Amino acid sequence: MTTVVGQLKSAFRIEAVATVDKGVQVTWKDGHESFYHNLWLRDTCHCPECFQRDTLSLNSGEGGGHDPLKMPLNPISETVKVDRSGNLDIIWGGEEPGHHSLFDPSWLRVHCQKDPALKQRRPPQLWDWSVSIPHFDYHEVMKDDWALLHWLEKMLELGVVIIDKVPKNKEGFQALVERVGPIQQRYHPTNIFTLDTANQLAGNIHHAYQYMERLHNHTDHVSYNVPPRLQFLGCIEYDNPDNDKQAYSTLVDGFKIAEVLRTQQPKSFELLTQEYVPTGRRRLGVEEKISDRTKKYQWETYHRQHVINLDKNGEVYQIRHHENDRVPLDVSHDKIQDLYAAYQAFTALAESPEYKTEFLIAPGQVLVNDNWRLLHGRTAIRNPGLRRILLGAYMKPETFSSRRRLLLGKKSGLSDMWLMGCSDRALEIMADRMTA
Ligand SMILES: [Fe+2]
Repeated sequence: MTTVVGQLKSAFRIEAVATVDKGVQVTWKDGHESFYHNLWLRDTCHCPECFQRDTLSLNSGEGGGHDPLKMPLNPISETVKVDRSGNLDIIWGGEEPGHHSLFDPSWLRVHCQKDPALKQRRPPQLWDWSVSIPHFDYHEVMKDDWALLHWLEKMLELGVVIIDKVPKNKEGFQALVERVGPIQQRYHPTNIFTLDTANQLAGNIHHAYQYMERLHNHTDHVSYNVPPRLQFLGCIEYDNPDNDKQAYSTLVDGFKIAEVLRTQQPKSFELLTQEYVPTGRRRLGVEEKISDRTKKYQWETYHRQHVINLDKNGEVYQIRHHENDRVPLDVSHDKIQDLYAAYQAFTALAESPEYKTEFLIAPGQVLVNDNWRLLHGRTAIRNPGLRRILLGAYMKPETFSSRRRLLLGKKSGLSDMWLMGCSDRALEIMADRMTA
């Protein structure tokens, strides 16, 4: 795609440039002013001598133009102007006379340290029992990149979507997951797992397969160093002779209940962000059937974790909560009662009717949920004659984020050279750089 400067919003078009002490001052058509230090500009030079266009990385090898040890700490510009295509055009003087750098204006704008838009984050929309889960059509997301991007944006906004009209077989389910990216490798010999009520042996492997009881809301794989980000659960079959709400899925927004706790019981909130509630799993010699043969696998994990995990701005970015996978508390005697009370408060919120939603994943539907945010569970299956088959798979955080970043970049229309190395926020802003 070739972009004409006139198609860009004013924030991405340079009005004027001026050389100032140690750098370049850029005035944009939307009135914003940016300052770029000469060393920063010289260091990010994208000319073929400094930056390899094929590998999309700095050319700092033997004879390369971007040897950090040879980089002048005080680069001096000879001429600074805006070229016909709207790029910032610099010819360097000083120790590197004639060295020529061109900077795409959109890329330059999203690297302005003074632009408040870059510091903003799209806040998640917190929800309670009244949530309306967005639905997407399988065929739409499979063929249309923008439908796929819309789905991935909903994963960040609400943490959940349902995909309808998915073929009721493993191939269709796998194709849907792989539309986003590779399925996460599990400890098990299979990466797509089957939850089948007819499989009586499965209850020995994990309590999630003990269908007679309600499965409380939880996040999965809490004892992994990095728990999977997305969880896919697709229904192949559901036949309930009682025609009631058995084997219904339950979901709760972990970010929402964390904020409720922060407001109502700040001390408890603080304890769950600072004290450890470790988790672990140990499975030795478990057998799993793979087509016509049976394979044994072993699995031993432990993680010294917080239930509520905060980023450097004090925002919740991850919930780890699984009642059954807890191992002995790692807490001092003077704090154990308060910590346990805090854990009880969070666990009660996770099951509170005020915050949880309950629904059936119908045959042909796939539920996708953000396992770093949402807690999921299931109502009990009391009737042994009920038959349900679910397929499940996980996705790593970077696989999800990679697909989203690729789609945002595609939407921006910029070349690979300028897209690589941009922050998620920068890509979000550039995806919206064109006038309608
Ligand atoms: Fe689970």
